[in-house]
Amino acid sequence: MNNKELIKKLREQRSLERDEFRKLLTEMTEDDEEFLYKNSREVRERYYGKDVYIRGLIEFTNYCRRDCLYCGIRASNKECQRYRLTHDEIMDCAKTGYGLGFRTFVMQGGEDMTISDDEMCRIISDLKTDHPDCAVTLSIGERERESYERYFTAGVDRFLLRHESVTPEHYSSLHTASQTIEKRLRCLNDLKEIGYQTGCGIMIGSPFQTVDHIINDLIFMKEFQPHMVGMGPFIPHAQTPFKDKPAGSLKDTLHMLGIIRLILPNVLLPATTALGTIVPNGRELGLLAGANVVMPNLSPTAVRAKYTLYDGKISTGAEAAECLADLKERIESAGYELAVARGDYAGQDISL
Ligand code: 5AD
Repeated sequence: MNNKELIKKLREQRSLERDEFRKLLTEMTEDDEEFLYKNSREVRERYYGKDVYIRGLIEFTNYCRRDCLYCGIRASNKECQRYRLTHDEIMDCAKTGYGLGFRTFVMQGGEDMTISDDEMCRIISDLKTDHPDCAVTLSIGERERESYERYFTAGVDRFLLRHESVTPEHYSSLHTASQTIEKRLRCLNDLKEIGYQTGCGIMIGSPFQTVDHIINDLIFMKEFQPHMVGMGPFIPHAQTPFKDKPAGSLKDTLHMLGIIRLILPNVLLPATTALGTIVPNGRELGLLAGANVVMPNLSPTAVRAKYTLYDGKISTGAEAAECLADLKERIESAGYELAVARGDYAGQDISL
C-alpha cells in the first residue's frame, strides 16, 4: 500500500500494522503530508467543528522531587530559582483568567511534596466554588491512588500525565532509577479508573527515541484510549544532561499530531507551547494538522521565566494570556474559532 492508502486505512480502522506505521512515519512526502492533514482536519471537525479550546495554564510550583534528565526544573538543577504560588495568587490567576474567557484551569507543577493533599484539595474546591462553570485539570505528576481519589472528590475533572515512552529501556534512559514505566502506567490506569478525563503523551524527538519506540507509543495510546494527548517536540535545556541533544523536529511533531487524530478521532489534542517555541507559527501549524486545544500561560509574569522546562520557552508572546487577542487572530488565521467553553471530551462515537 502507498502512504495515501495507509492514511485512508488508518482513518477507517484507527490502526495499522507495525510495518505500515513504519512506512508512514519514515517515508512521508509533502503530498502525503497534505493528504494526512486534510484527513485529520476532517475528522477533528466532525467531532469539534471549528472550535479551539483554550486552557489557562497556572504553573503554581517549580519545586520537584524528580530528576528527569530532559527537564529544566529537575531537582538537581541548582540554578533553577524555585517558587511556589500562594493560595491567593492562584485564585487571582484564575479570576483574571475567567475574565479573559478561560473555562478550564490547568494546575501544573513539579512533584512538590510540601504541598499537602489537604492544601491541594482546598485550592481545588476554592477554584470550583469561585468558578462553578469551569473545569479544573491537574498536571502534578505521580501520586498515590488515594491522593488521586481525594483530588477527584474535591472536584478535579481532568488529569494530564504524559507517559513519556512506553518502551521500558527508553523510559529508563530519560529518567532516574526512582521512576519506572510500570509505575507511570499504574498511575495512568488509576486516574482513568477513578473517572478523570485522562491525558498521556510523549515528547517527539526525545534523546534515544527510535521509530520503533514511536510505534510502541502509538499502539499503547490506541489501547489506552486517553481523552487527551500531549505531544510536543523535545527541546534541550542548558542545565540538564541533555543540553547537547538535538531538538525534535517540526515535521515529525506535525506527522504525529495528524496520525494520533486518526487513531483517536475525538481526542483533546493541544498544539503545545513547545511547538510554538521551535517555530513562530508552530501552534497554527499544529491546529492545521489536527490539534484542537491551546494552553496559554496564566501564571504571574514575575514567575514565568522560572518555569523553564526547556530553553527559549515562549512566555511573552501570543502564548501569554494577556495576548489572547493575538492568539485569537492566529487561531482565526488558521480558519478556526476560539471557544469560550469548558471544552470537554466529545464522548459520543460518530461513525466516519
Ligand atoms: N522539552 C520538551 N518538553 C519537555 N517537557 C519537560 N521537559 C521538556 C523539554 N526539555 C515536557 C514533558 C512533561 C511536560 C510537562 O513537559 O513531556 O511531561
